[in-house]
Amino acid sequence: MQVDLREEWSIGPVRVPTRVVLAPMAGVSVQAFRRQGRRFGAGLVCSEMVSCAGLSHRNERTLGYLRIAADEHPLAVQIFGAEPEPMREAARMVEAAGADIVDINFGCPVRKVTKTGAGATLLDDPDRACRIVEAVAGAVSVPVSVKMRRGLENGSRACLDVGPRLVDAGARSLTLHPRSAVQMYTGEADHRLTAELVERVDVPVIASGDITSRARAQAVLATTGAEAVMVGRGAQGNPWALREIVDGRDAPPPREEVAAELILFVRETVRELGERRASGFLKKFYGWYLGRGRFPKPFKQELLRIESTDEVERRLLAAAPGARDVLEQLEAEHPPVDELTLALPISIYGGG
Ligand SMILES: Cc1cc2nc3c(=O)[nH]c(=O)nc-3n(C[C@H](O)[C@H](O)[C@H](O)COP(=O)(O)O)c2cc1C
Repeated sequence: MQVDLREEWSIGPVRVPTRVVLAPMAGVSVQAFRRQGRRFGAGLVCSEMVSCAGLSHRNERTLGYLRIAADEHPLAVQIFGAEPEPMREAARMVEAAGADIVDINFGCPVRKVTKTGAGATLLDDPDRACRIVEAVAGAVSVPVSVKMRRGLENGSRACLDVGPRLVDAGARSLTLHPRSAVQMYTGEADHRLTAELVERVDVPVIASGDITSRARAQAVLATTGAEAVMVGRGAQGNPWALREIVDGRDAPPPREEVAAELILFVRETVRELGERRASGFLKKFYGWYLGRGRFPKPFKQELLRIESTDEVERRLLAAAPGARDVLEQLEAEHPPVDELTLALPISIYGGG
């Protein structure tokens, strides 16, 4: 069965123009990543998970995650926490920042998060999970969604029992990454569970896990009945994967386009995080962009040793001179965020 990935769908009143969602990824989903994802065909993008404790302490770095540019919509901001009350407060801040959807994280398997009772741990405490969803849904007028794993232990089917209860509690959409928390990222996402979840709820389900190609996206949508697929690792340094999935355009990008996209990404990330934080943060992206046979390995290694992002840019332009024209065009079509309206008043995010 052929599935149209360009078909519009909705989460509550929020219209999502394509059936591809860009995954929330901590340490990856900066604004440059999300804006680029939208440009390459993702119908919905998501912030990385934001700590409700950090928001309630008005931690400057945490507040920085609430900066939303006008051209990112529709966008979900994801929050995590273990208590209904701070989650309610965090959700209000997220709505005030201009998010179209508040997403709740019941999937994070990382010990730092689970030991606080947040993330995937909540799949083992459905009553508390439902209280959190109820509190959040009652606090905001935008739709609330939940992202979860299959359960904590290998073979767990907890998501099938918890999911419908979360919908009763107010979730307007569910994303399932059908691996257990113990599995982390090993093995395969078992989308047979996604199909079972779709049968049990009457809200849209988003299938997350191992979607790296159009063929895989089509197969998962057709066999599960999910409304959309979510793409995570496949889009790291590879927005072209989104275009291939949405439109079927699978020609490998020319070098100058890769270099131009990477330079734009670097510039935007420096604007968002500042040079000092950005220069370390960006290193993993150099490998992701320049790998896949796009640039020789020694060149990639060379960039990793450079601390200044200006110098990285110079080397990229020297390696792919045609990138300058592509970049100029990109910047003309997609002006820096500072020139766009930020939905959030500067007093809320602290400017950082
Ligand atoms: C580096 C990294 C960070 C992630 N951070 C988050 C996060 O903040 N919130 C979340 O719900 N999922 C997070 N995930 C999980 C992804 O959203 C996604 O469900 C998972 O990677 C499976 O999809 P994929 O096979 O397309 O990568 C993260 C995954 C990775 C690889």
